[in-house]
Amino acid sequence: MVNAKTFVEEAMDEIRSKLVDRGILACSGGQDSTLLAVLASKAAGDRVLTVFVDTGLLRKGERERVETVFRKFSLNYHIIDASERFLSALKGITDPEEKRKIIGKVFIEVFDEEAKKYGARFLLQGTIAPDWIESGGSVREVIKSHHNVGGLPDKMNLKLIEPLRELYKDEIRDISRYLGLDTDIQPFPGPGLAVRIIGEVNREKADLLREVTEIVERGVREEYADTSRRPWQYFAVLLPVHSTGIHGDKRTYGFTVAIRMIDTDDAMSGTFTRPSWDFMDRLSTEITNEVKGINRVVYDVTNKPPATIEWE
Ligand code: XMP
Repeated sequence: MVNAKTFVEEAMDEIRSKLVDRGILACSGGQDSTLLAVLASKAAGDRVLTVFVDTGLLRKGERERVETVFRKFSLNYHIIDASERFLSALKGITDPEEKRKIIGKVFIEVFDEEAKKYGARFLLQGTIAPDWIESGGSVREVIKSHHNVGGLPDKMNLKLIEPLRELYKDEIRDISRYLGLDTDIQPFPGPGLAVRIIGEVNREKADLLREVTEIVERGVREEYADTSRRPWQYFAVLLPVHSTGIHGDKRTYGFTVAIRMIDTDDAMSGTFTRPSWDFMDRLSTEITNEVKGINRVVYDVTNKPPATIEWE
């Protein structure tokens, strides 16, 4: 286990010595890339630009949450609203892998434009040890084309700096805590809500899912105030299924959402959380009362494997 203070000093030295010209990094607001952004800014100040891309597929308040952190640590940052671009590229697309590839491609285009505008020659990337150990040479079947802010392509012609490459998740958390960063961030996939909207993505569905997601996240944090008992990941999925319901004395024909809560150590395998029925009752009632257009809630009782954590 690395010592946080020593690591921070050494990482800053590494960044200072390698970053001899302008550098850029993409921050998703997740634990790794946020730590990288703060370290890079401490080491190199305004010679580093932190870019946050709003894909229109983020959770409610996510952009504001991230910006608050950027401000708190006085980062040189740029937030790009590319939601229109992502949503129009996804129009008519229903295949999960195609959705992932399109999102990855648009992300790279947006980021590349920004890197050129800034005149960046270096790319700082938040690769951590499990990222390269897992992809270490052996040929594995592609289950999903993972997209995150790492893995930006070689053709960008930027020199790579990866100060977190030897770290594991628990060390990332310790160092983040040492620097005063929030460590209670649950993982959120790079393609965002797009992989939780089964079938075609559009703004209306993204808005519905954002509302439900907020209710689920808030509900879980309250129900599991003791973080040691809290599920590792918890979210909602919008299904392309309509069903008949009743609201007051009127017939409804609304969307169905599935709730997914997973207990795991490493996200490689996991079991579904066994919440209390009372809690599920409260969640379901709040969702169907508060989110117009949703009249049915189901719970996913599948472990990983055979299912993956995300539905797409
Ligand atoms: P799966 O669905 O493969 O998810 O069981 C395992 C973990 O990875 C997250 N996930 C992603 N993270 N980019 C990411 O950065 C992605 O494209 C992506 N897809 C899934 C998922 O939320 C879970 O924590």
